[in-house]
Amino acid sequence: MKEHMVKPLFTEEEVDRKIRELAARISEDYAGRQLHLIGVLKGSVPFMAELAKRLTIPATMDFMSCSSYGGGTSSSGVVRLNKDLDESIEGRDVLLVEDIIDTGHTLSYLLNLLQDRKPASLKLAALLDKPSRRTCPVEVDYTCFKIPDVFVVGYGLDYDQLYRNLPYVGYVEFV
Ligand code: IMP
Ligand code: MG
Repeated sequence: MKEHMVKPLFTEEEVDRKIRELAARISEDYAGRQLHLIGVLKGSVPFMAELAKRLTIPATMDFMSCSSYGGGTSSSGVVRLNKDLDESIEGRDVLLVEDIIDTGHTLSYLLNLLQDRKPASLKLAALLDKPSRRTCPVEVDYTCFKIPDVFVVGYGLDYDQLYRNLPYVGYVEFV
């Protein structure tokens, strides 16, 4: 791990407010339906929990896990499925929940995998979106913040597995 400092990017209050707004939008968009939330372990956990708590529609949850990053801060571009879903998604309204969409490799892999299982609908929510880094064209349906090309941590996001538990979003400055 390189020597570094974590600087604040979005405060706990800002993140909470954005998630509440997003939850209200999603609740409105899915009014009268039941939503199946799928979290991508481990980074989506804090976002998924906060989002789920604020939804006013009935929701169920499942989780899957894959890896694209080794350690450190750069993507290998190769995605491997480590844990599959517990339940079938056929005929269900599915919302895939991720911490961040960066190159788009992970999400394009996961969206293809899920689409093949015939959900009634499939959309994507990511806490953060780094559009300038996209090499795989993936459309984000719901996001809280668009960010520049900085390496972010906190609120589920890690640097070598650290900082996931920070209640705010920060960025890493290497010294
Ligand atoms: P992608 O496949 O390049 O879109 O990368 C997706 C995954 O890379 C995310 O789920 C994160 O785990 C990780 N990632 C991408 N950018 C960052 C970052 O700025 N901080 C921490 N993790 C990141
Ligand atoms: Mg992740």
